[in-house]
Amino acid sequence: MGIPAQPVLRQKSVQRGKYLIAELRACHGLYLSSGLSLTDGQIEQLNNTVKGGVEMSRALGKDYAELYDVVYQNKDYSAECDILERLFKKYLTKPVRTIVDLGCGTGNHAIPLASRGYSVVGIDHSGDMLKRAKLKARQKGLRISFKKSDIKKLRLNQVFDAALMMFAVLSYQVKNNDVSAALKCARLHVHKGGLFITDFWYGPAVLAQRPDERIRTIKVKGKTILRTSSGDLDIKHKICKVQMQTLEIHKNKIAQRIKEEHSMRFFFNRELEILLKNSGFELIRIGAFPDFDLEPDENTWNVLMVARAI
Ligand SMILES: C[S@@+](CC[C@H](N)C(=O)[O-])C[C@H]1O[C@@H](n2cnc3c(N)ncnc32)[C@H](O)[C@@H]1O
Repeated sequence: MGIPAQPVLRQKSVQRGKYLIAELRACHGLYLSSGLSLTDGQIEQLNNTVKGGVEMSRALGKDYAELYDVVYQNKDYSAECDILERLFKKYLTKPVRTIVDLGCGTGNHAIPLASRGYSVVGIDHSGDMLKRAKLKARQKGLRISFKKSDIKKLRLNQVFDAALMMFAVLSYQVKNNDVSAALKCARLHVHKGGLFITDFWYGPAVLAQRPDERIRTIKVKGKTILRTSSGDLDIKHKICKVQMQTLEIHKNKIAQRIKEEHSMRFFFNRELEILLKNSGFELIRIGAFPDFDLEPDENTWNVLMVARAI
């Protein structure tokens, strides 16, 4: 039996700019979606319908690294690099030449930035994500230094013109001490006057919109990737616990099943101002992401922040 038709239970219709909010989250947040949602019962039914396969429960492990680029194939990294370059020019008088990409994953910013002529060092604590990043860089003939490290502990003894933490890397730092350690790491690795740029989940929008259940299907090389996600809010600690399941379905059988649980922190302007100041940065601007010139509001799940090292 194949995959049953996906019922449309709720379809977000909040519109901002030319995007539906659900689509915005799909492109820029961990909420993947086509705007479709399933109930727990229906997800269970789906799991029971497609039988067999291997079960894994690993967050950002080898299998996840391989699937990562498939799952995010429509995320427009090139356009994001355009935004980054625009911000470099807008907020710095000297040209940016060197960049440290903290939480670089499979190199989806590091690689296009290196192709554009920047000297880039990529850092991630996942060896498997880095392995993929190295392979992709090699295939493009690019020399990028990828290093394995926890960004909370990183000490490169090298300073850069700009530090990046892209695609909610800061939101993965859940406790106050972890956030401070990550920000201090960014500060340690940029020149005085250099830039720190990061996108994260915006507290006012997370509280106003609340996470909901989502499903997305991707067809690739005769396989279907089915990704479901749901989230629970821990408002007291400003955390959203996101459960994701990715099924790789081949010939109506589950070839692979990956379960992930991510605790994602969301942030508010005032707390970030304080955290940044304590880490040696001044906040320049928090803008909507990707429409950085727009003021973020309750509809802006993802925001981009620019800070300057002082
Ligand atoms: C959603 S992925 C983003 C990857 C990449 N920046 C991108 O835009 O595709 C988050 C990445 O942050 C990494 N990460 C999270 N916390 C980290 C930490 N404390 N130290 C190093 N890497 C971290 C994860 O391993 C993962 O590769």
